[in-house]
Amino acid sequence: MRLDRFLVSSGLGSRKEVKKIIKDKKIFVNEQICLDSSLNIDEYKDKIKHLNDEIVYHKFYYLLLNKPEGYVSSTKKEGKYLPVTELVKEYEFANVFPVGRLDVDSTGVLLMTNNGTLAHQLLSPKYHVDKIYEVEVDFPLKDELIKEFEKGIIIDNELTLPAKLEIISPYKALVTLHEGKFHQVKRMFLKFSYKVISLNRIQFAFLTLNGIKKGEYRMLANEEILKLEELTQHKTLDNN
Ligand code: URA
Repeated sequence: MRLDRFLVSSGLGSRKEVKKIIKDKKIFVNEQICLDSSLNIDEYKDKIKHLNDEIVYHKFYYLLLNKPEGYVSSTKKEGKYLPVTELVKEYEFANVFPVGRLDVDSTGVLLMTNNGTLAHQLLSPKYHVDKIYEVEVDFPLKDELIKEFEKGIIIDNELTLPAKLEIISPYKALVTLHEGKFHQVKRMFLKFSYKVISLNRIQFAFLTLNGIKKGEYRMLANEEILKLEELTQHKTLDNN
């Protein structure tokens, strides 16, 4: 890979900024100052430094965001709403995007990455990745709903996969889904004339927010990335 491309894709700056940094003798390739932006480097083997800081190559980036209300799960503004990518501006260079959608008024766990293949697999019902939502509704919850969610509910002319409903207080429940139809949780409750007042995703696969404040994010650790990859290698439903 060309040195300037490597530096841009590592987030050091734009192509123009990176060229200036190289010209200013701030980039070292294997401990030697390098002035050639077009030098072909081996991103896995060569040691690239910006002054004293080593730059380690990442093909893909994985961020765990605590989505606040008022942002769209997209890379583009929609109407008056800014995209969630505005909250992870530092990774704009990597073109990360949200894995699936949380509604504008929904909050909680949102994985962001630029690994399109993994994102696609994590969202496929085939891989049975659990998503857990904490939901508040406008009327006291009835126990009968538990069975209805388990049986599945017709949405878009299709029966939803069995969902788990745990009632935790008169107006609050946890819902576990293995798929993600458009506005699925809200529409499931609406079938029984409940309006969802608030919806917070507390878990996506094994990922929870654990101390990440609203609007903040952290990078996934390598073990977490490997675990996500493993999840998509074991299909839990049938053999297709
Ligand atoms: N289901 C919904 O209805 N909304 C969300 O944001 C996520 C799941």
